[in-house]
Amino acid sequence: MTSATVGGPEGAAPGPVTLLVNAAQTITCAGAPRARRGAELADVSVSPGYGVAMQGDTIAAVAPDDVLRRQFPGAPEFDCARGLLAPGFVDSHTHAVFGAGRYAEHELRATGVPYLEIARQGGGIHASVRDFRARTDDELLALAGPRLARLAAGGVTTLEIKSGYGLSVPDELRALRVVRRLAEQGPLNVVATCMAAHEVPVEFRDRPAGRREWLDVICDEIYPQVAAEQLARFADVFCEPGVFGIAESRRLLHEGRAHGLIPKLHADELRDGGGAVLAAELEAVSADHLAAISPDGVRALAASSTVATLLPATMLFLGTGHQAPARSLVDAGAAIALASDFNPGTSPLQAFPLVLTLAVSVLRLSAAEAWLACTVNGAAALGLAGRTGQLTPGFRADVAVHAVEDYRAWPYWFGERLCIGSWASGRACHQRR
Ligand code: NIG
Ligand code: FE
Repeated sequence: MTSATVGGPEGAAPGPVTLLVNAAQTITCAGAPRARRGAELADVSVSPGYGVAMQGDTIAAVAPDDVLRRQFPGAPEFDCARGLLAPGFVDSHTHAVFGAGRYAEHELRATGVPYLEIARQGGGIHASVRDFRARTDDELLALAGPRLARLAAGGVTTLEIKSGYGLSVPDELRALRVVRRLAEQGPLNVVATCMAAHEVPVEFRDRPAGRREWLDVICDEIYPQVAAEQLARFADVFCEPGVFGIAESRRLLHEGRAHGLIPKLHADELRDGGGAVLAAELEAVSADHLAAISPDGVRALAASSTVATLLPATMLFLGTGHQAPARSLVDAGAAIALASDFNPGTSPLQAFPLVLTLAVSVLRLSAAEAWLACTVNGAAALGLAGRTGQLTPGFRADVAVHAVEDYRAWPYWFGERLCIGSWASGRACHQRR
């Protein structure tokens, strides 16, 4: 199928139009361009018989098929084959630029060695850092490309990618330049986060002042250079007892913000360290993980604009038996998002749909809550709720078609490859019949 240039609706710029038609069910997730909370999370806006007109990189119209055909006569059509037409998923938390997997560590944890103990012994994130530094940019890019394609095959059209396996000035910048190349190369929409505060690198650990020196390097060298090259939109910190503490995280995120980097936080993943409360205090765009969040943390997030991003695949893969209290967060009024946390240590997950299944089966969310958490609210976790996450005219043409007749079937038929077509900013990402 190719696109042709036809006249658009009055006032709209002409451009290549493609119609997505013949869906059994269409969910638009349309509504306010902000994170949804509470009862709002029950409504994915089922719009029977509706199709989508993509014009260039934008959604030009969402209307019944016959209305679209009259509005855009002669436009080429993608046949949704009585499947589900929906917004593309926004995977708002990944560490997708890395070298090799960490298979040995997976088995070691199964014998009872904790994640942070492996890191203390120089494995974990440090193993990925050694591996990253030994590779060229081209190698890293070549490894990341097919991984992104696998995420796209699951219906992801926008993803965030963090640095954090470089942990030196040149290597952190290198990571973010690789992310930039992935963004330029497309077709997925890619958003970059500087996570130089992923760990204290091994070479800074052998002296008492080392921690402080690494924080100085991040604040005085990395953030300014990231800002000067406009390499990232966000700064993220692994705020966790044993990694970065509250005062350190506060300093880092204040400094990041001074350089235009919006705060995000890995918070209360393994133990409650007050990370969620800090995220709310800093008005971070998101607080992520939260498997060990305290009741105070839940209250703080519910009263804040910060999106609580839940990563159920990580807790499954770590095998801790803990999960974030998703129901308490939703019921308290917090805005929740869902993401993959795709990374080589705790979530080597490229099959995004499993996140929705875990959301329903383990986090006890409804299917509608799960969908909104990885569309509209995923977008909000990236400051993009006015651009993507819904099928609404004027929004980015980030759309996916799936071989199921009902949005609830997505989390239900788990392990299947259900996405048959996806477009990011109107560019074809994935097609499979
Ligand atoms: O989100 N928690 C910290 N960072 C990643 C894991 C990184 C790694 O182990 O390589 C996470 O789980
Ligand atoms: Fe993470």
